[in-house]
Amino acid sequence: MADTLLEAAKKAREFAYSPYSKFKVGAAVLAKSGSIYTGCNIENASYGLTNCAERTAIFKAIAAGEVNLTALAVVADTKEPVSPCGACRQVMAEFKINKIIMGNLQGKMREVTLAELLPFSFTDTDFTDKHNG
Ligand code: THU
Repeated sequence: MADTLLEAAKKAREFAYSPYSKFKVGAAVLAKSGSIYTGCNIENASYGLTNCAERTAIFKAIAAGEVNLTALAVVADTKEPVSPCGACRQVMAEFKINKIIMGNLQGKMREVTLAELLPFSFTDTDFTDKHNG
């Protein structure tokens, strides 16, 4: 499963739109339905509007009607397996993607849980508890 997701992420990386950083990233997310959704980073001349590969993949899955996402792989041409940014970790937390597989083009990989990647995360329960209690 990890290998299939990493391979899909590697293929998606080829579609990266990254004329500013020249850094290509690919991601693939697995839904409970069995479907895999891929994404790449999409940059913008207004740099802050850039969308990371991970969020592209997650948003594609959600927009396709998936409600349960189980694992995500991300790949870049880095020395060590590439590590997702803070914004993407928060989006992974929103959809409770519990398994995150990081990889590079050399085939190095590291698998972690969401709690390892984003400990003490802010979630909906933080404010619903307060309003309902
Ligand atoms: N990037 C990703 O797509 N995912 C990551 O995990 C790290 C960063 C992108 C954003 C930007 O297009 C480029 O990599 C350089 O930061």
